[in-house]
Amino acid sequence: VVDIKGGPDEGLDRLGQTLAVKGWVRTLRVQSSVIFIEVNDGSCLSNMQCVMNSDADGYDQVESGSITTGASVSIQGTLVASQGSKQKVELNVLKIVTVARVRNALAYATHKFFQENGFVWISSPIITASDCEGAGEQFCVTTLIPSSREATDSTVDAIPKAKDGLIDWSQDFFGKPAFLTVSGQLNAETYATALSDVYTFGPTFRAENSNTSRHLAEFWMIEPELAFADLNDDMACATAYLQYVVTYILENCKEDMEFFNTWIEKGIINRLSDVAEKNFVQLTYTDAVELLIRANKKFEFPVKWGCDLQSEHERYITEVAFGGCPVIIRDYPKDIKAFYMRRNDDGKTVAAMDMLVPRVGELIGGSQREERLEYLEERLDDLKLNKDSFWWYLDLRRYGSVPHAGFGLGFERLVQFATGMDNIRDAIPFPRTPGSAEF
Ligand code: 4AD
Ligand code: MG
Repeated sequence: VVDIKGGPDEGLDRLGQTLAVKGWVRTLRVQSSVIFIEVNDGSCLSNMQCVMNSDADGYDQVESGSITTGASVSIQGTLVASQGSKQKVELNVLKIVTVARVRNALAYATHKFFQENGFVWISSPIITASDCEGAGEQFCVTTLIPSSREATDSTVDAIPKAKDGLIDWSQDFFGKPAFLTVSGQLNAETYATALSDVYTFGPTFRAENSNTSRHLAEFWMIEPELAFADLNDDMACATAYLQYVVTYILENCKEDMEFFNTWIEKGIINRLSDVAEKNFVQLTYTDAVELLIRANKKFEFPVKWGCDLQSEHERYITEVAFGGCPVIIRDYPKDIKAFYMRRNDDGKTVAAMDMLVPRVGELIGGSQREERLEYLEERLDDLKLNKDSFWWYLDLRRYGSVPHAGFGLGFERLVQFATGMDNIRDAIPFPRTPGSAEF
């Protein structure tokens, strides 16, 4: 928060800096192609004047009246000298976002649901050598050697060795490769085989270069892991959880939900009320593929058994085929799913499930885990994954295990679904996407 106390030169020493101002809109004037917003955060009497041109991110939301007096906002911009006489400095707005109280309510309801159902909240590491999803979409951890530091023998040793003229940054966690986690699941499994039902709720990272309305490079994930559970228990838990948090915000965030219903997605309250009350559709992957083929629709990606379902297929299934109801698809082909999923008796499919919801597509991905050592080792070999690096995960089976299952829910996709926001970047105030990490 920029604290402008109104002294004669206040803020002048920060001219040109990019800052974020968080507070509440006091006044707002829309002129032909520029909007003046006065923001105050309660720390002082004077307001911060923010000047917004039509190319600023969020301009349309302000112009259309979705952000008005009283709105809680985070405004990012450059501090410049003011033309006006009332203040010395003003903020040249780059971006404005409303701070969603609903995100907070969904986080609270998440903990409430799991705590009330006997789950233990656990923390999984952010830095890890394992690639849970096996998709190679990891950011690696590097150590910066400050240039001012004199290079002693030991610092030179710590600098990764050049390989083909390039620095091999992947060897840089004190000489070993390490990455930002894509999922806390594998660790959650070890907790679950000691504590029974557990859940994580923390940041996860994916180095996928996807510029879509539903992908972030950094997102929060909720990952329950249920001990002594199979895929049916997993699907029941996912359904109960989603219904619980949706009911919670309908009951506790009435004013915000009215706002979203009016300005963001007409009818969202009715749609969420249906989600809270109705049974979700369940079908197998094989039936879903048949349904898509029978739809006889020209998809960009043609459908055949074995293909990964794309977002156009997922949206068709929930939005058209089942009229806006969440749909759980289960028993996917093993070749399009991760190594840890439990092989089904047919040898071709695994006990996986994805929950699809309208507008967002995949909200949840989960599975029953392969607890049989010999099948797990076979799968790691098939996928040419290094068994040695999974020794601890294999030991969890080698010395006895229990049937267990779990799922992951992308928290920003939940916020998107529950508020009707078109773009996942509006579900987190500082979205991290390819090329955007400056604030
Ligand atoms: O389907 P995913 O990749 O599954 C896992 O990570 C499992 N290990 C979870 C588990 O069983 N414990 O990711 C789970 C969910 C997706 O359904 C989606 O909601 C979200 O995480 N997600 C993303 N959200 C935003 N941006 C991205 N790039 C995301 N990738 C996945
Ligand atoms: Mg998935």
